[in-house]
Amino acid sequence: MKKVLIINGPNLNLLGVREPGIYGTDSLESINEGLKAACAELDFDPTFFQSNHEGAIIDLLHGSMGKIDGIVMNPGAFTHYSYAIRDAIAAVRIPVVEVHLSDPRTREPFRHVDVLDGVVAGYVAGLGKQSYFEGLKVLADILGRGGNHV
Ligand code: DQA
Repeated sequence: MKKVLIINGPNLNLLGVREPGIYGTDSLESINEGLKAACAELDFDPTFFQSNHEGAIIDLLHGSMGKIDGIVMNPGAFTHYSYAIRDAIAAVRIPVVEVHLSDPRTREPFRHVDVLDGVVAGYVAGLGKQSYFEGLKVLADILGRGGNHV
């Protein structure tokens, strides 16, 4: 069984009430419940983590070295400016699939910048909560191939 982390960054604890027209009406808890079932089917042992703090996410990435096989992460707004999270992903060499509920590339110009581009192993965006489920499948594919990391 592969150990996987499902990480959500800032403001994603407010899913369900936060701009529902963009992010949907499901809470993070209910999305995570569905992901648990999906993980069981993929033979993944999941751990769920959400933080509004950049350093907490970086500490988790560091602590995952040698312990976690793969990660699905919605970095929230950190996507657009956190060189520190980019560097941590590159450092730990664990495959990370980046997911977004919305499609940042079709939104405000500041969201078109993705500083994680080039260090993540996969990318899924714009499918609402389905992005997380597709992200897990992409991760399963990557781990099946031996965990290639770009
Ligand atoms: C998001 C997109 C980001 O631009 C935004 O800052 C978020 C959510 C998404 O899931 O669509 O917090 O990552």
